[in-house]
Amino acid sequence: MSLNTKKKSGWPGLIEAYRDWLPVTEATPIITLQEGDTPLIPLNAISSRIGNGVKVFAKYDGLNPTGSFKDRGMTMAISKAKENGCEAVICASTGNTSASAAAYARRAGMRAFVLIPDGYVAQGKLAQALVYGAEVLAIKGNFDKALEIVREIAERYPVTLVNSTNPFRLEGQKTAAFEIIEALGNAPDWICIPMGNAGNISAYWMGFEAYFKAGISKQLPKMLGFQAIGSAPLVLNTTVKEPKTIATAIRIGNPVNREKALIVKEKSNGKFLSVTDQEIINAYKLLGKEEGIFCEPASAASVAGLLKCKNEIKNESTIVCILTGNGLKDPDCAINNNDATFFNGLDPNIDKIAQTMGF
Ligand code: F0G
Repeated sequence: MSLNTKKKSGWPGLIEAYRDWLPVTEATPIITLQEGDTPLIPLNAISSRIGNGVKVFAKYDGLNPTGSFKDRGMTMAISKAKENGCEAVICASTGNTSASAAAYARRAGMRAFVLIPDGYVAQGKLAQALVYGAEVLAIKGNFDKALEIVREIAERYPVTLVNSTNPFRLEGQKTAAFEIIEALGNAPDWICIPMGNAGNISAYWMGFEAYFKAGISKQLPKMLGFQAIGSAPLVLNTTVKEPKTIATAIRIGNPVNREKALIVKEKSNGKFLSVTDQEIINAYKLLGKEEGIFCEPASAASVAGLLKCKNEIKNESTIVCILTGNGLKDPDCAINNNDATFFNGLDPNIDKIAQTMGF
């Protein structure tokens, strides 16, 4: 037997991989779960639906260690917090930030306080925060209220805020753009991305600009940001007091990175659009059934949005949809929204089972 050299080994995590592009020094303790290096998967069924030689890919960031893109930001935020001697971190979260913050903070030996909107965090995410040893504070209020509170607490008490207002978060998250450019040999024509607090779209743009300025890529992508229709403050250019959507991850009415996101839209000649919950679920099912990719509903907003803009796509374009989180995060949504054939309570009898199978 010889060594399988095709198997990737030794990925050190994104800080080591992109050290020269990140604000770390030899003195920074690197807290990593070997996040990053996620696959860029061709979406064949979706590409052929669009036709005209358009190539669509998914950047599947749901394959990070805690199942979402937040790990890219959290390895940086927690490493820097550790470097600064911090002993506790806090965040508000619709679920993924809390899972990621808990994992990295506990790994670094810190306390992790997470404020979540009671009843609006998907089961998988809550399970993660609990198992990773977070101190979970569920409030009667939405994410926007939770964020207001943690910002104030971080001002007054010795805890570091690890929401996307923490600049190190975006620094880590920008590495996803580097990986896309490395995989394609250039930046794509379009990026389709779901928006909540709008940190991620801002981080991607930082990454694309950095590689473009360094001459590593020859173009900048058009950034298309999508929100759920009941939770679309950036599309409507307002604040939504009571945001609603099945995609609880992006159930946010007052995004803190609003200004940054508007600059990204302008500079990239991009667009912000909303998609309905039904369009999100259609895309979610399509990704599962025809592409073999199980993402969470918020992530499917990127594909739902792309399909909505189908008629504006130039022939032969390359498009990357960002799938921000893993489908296993939200099992309730999966159980309630699928087109599967599911016979239960069957007798364990071969003939009857074969008959049920249609033979
Ligand atoms: N997709 C998923 C799966 C998310 O969890 C989030 C945000 C987004 C997209 C939007 O990213 O806020 O940078 O525009 N989740 C945060 C959280 C709010 O608390 O986990 P954004």
